[in-house]
Amino acid sequence: MKKPHNFILNFIASSCLLFAATGAQAVEPLALQQIMKDLGKNMQVITDGISREDWELVEKTAPLIADHPQPPFSEKMRIMGFMGTNMGRFKAHDGETHDHAQAAGNAAKAKDGQGVILAFQKLQTSCYSCHSEFRKSFVEHFYGKKDAVQ
Ligand code: HEC
Repeated sequence: MKKPHNFILNFIASSCLLFAATGAQAVEPLALQQIMKDLGKNMQVITDGISREDWELVEKTAPLIADHPQPPFSEKMRIMGFMGTNMGRFKAHDGETHDHAQAAGNAAKAKDGQGVILAFQKLQTSCYSCHSEFRKSFVEHFYGKKDAVQ
């Protein structure tokens, strides 16, 4: 038979776990974060396609990056609120990503490997440009400073 103090210790231990779990989930990730994760995955698929010269794979993956889903309207409003007058620049980076992903897809369609690689490099630069300009302050704003380093 369990001794009563075991019960109490178990209760305290599970309360701590519950507290830790809810604490970690205190800030809901934005829909944008999942969109970004998917962009990252699709970039890996394209890298793999280039290595295998599987231009069909590149051609069908590029539009998933170019025309990636958008966050819901309410989240867009929050992002716009945070970006303020920088919203134009933020959008311009996204436009670059769109254009270069589309160019990579077109080059893949033409089985132009060198063209795919050139467009892919510009595509990576467009991701990087937005990240280096906005990601740190964005993450600090929406998740708090602790999570700023990813
Ligand atoms: C217009 C700006 C912008 C562009 C362009 C952009 N990103 Fe991001 N990215 C962000 C922001 C802002 C975050 C932080 C989002 C968050 O944590 O909620 C982010 C985060 C990420 C993350 C980390 C997600 C995680 O697990 O926390 C990955 C991966 C990523 N982006 C991939 C990409 C790739 C690949 C591209 C280009 C194909 C790209 N991004 C283009 C703004 C951008």
